[in-house]
Amino acid sequence: MAETEDFWNRIARKYAADPIKDMEGYNRTIDRTREHLSRDARVLEVGCGSGATALLLAPEVGHITASDISSEMITIGREKAAGTNVANIDFVRATPFDDAFPDAPYDAVLAYNFLHLVPDVPALIDRLAELMRPGGLLISKTPNIGGARRLVLQPLIAAMRLFGKAPPDLSFVSPKQLKAMIAKAGFEIVVFEFHGDSRPFIVAKKK
Ligand SMILES: C[S@@+](CC[C@H](N)C(=O)[O-])C[C@H]1O[C@@H](n2cnc3c(N)ncnc32)[C@H](O)[C@@H]1O
Repeated sequence: MAETEDFWNRIARKYAADPIKDMEGYNRTIDRTREHLSRDARVLEVGCGSGATALLLAPEVGHITASDISSEMITIGREKAAGTNVANIDFVRATPFDDAFPDAPYDAVLAYNFLHLVPDVPALIDRLAELMRPGGLLISKTPNIGGARRLVLQPLIAAMRLFGKAPPDLSFVSPKQLKAMIAKAGFEIVVFEFHGDSRPFIVAKKK
């Protein structure tokens, strides 16, 4: 975990400063997310990065806890929040597995560009389910690095890792595998569609 935090701390300022590569795909994800959030929703975002999405959505929900393993990402999130009048957001340095979420169970858990970043994706999904109330929503978008893409990406990423240019823990799950894992963890799949460069956007309701 220290290696993971070090990696993201190292790239946090650049990650936060870089423009979003696929603005159309991002806007679609945000619009689709909004359709599933209510004004009083208590929301947890995992792997929130520099907090841009949490800050965007905060005025439309009851409260957001924005969490991330990287202390540097959390610092940037707090800096950004200080420049706004958004008051219903808390930034927490934590992984989903930490005992750091006294507000659980949440009405919704958001996970953007995150579910592939752990070695055991089913264990992560089980843990997210634990953090949600029955009927709560898991809303995720995940890079598609599985299936045929894995054949190209896995060796490339292994090489990048040698130079510290790729995250330490990556799971090469395909969209189909991800959907099956979420369903197996006790969720009903409500939305399964592709945004941007074929990233699966999945909304799943905890049974
Ligand atoms: C690709 S970035 C995505 C950030 C943001 N959700 C977005 O869509 O721009 C992945 C984020 O997950 C965080 N992260 C990686 N592994 C993590 C873990 N095990 N627990 C919590 N956060 C983690 C990183 O620090 C990073 O901020």
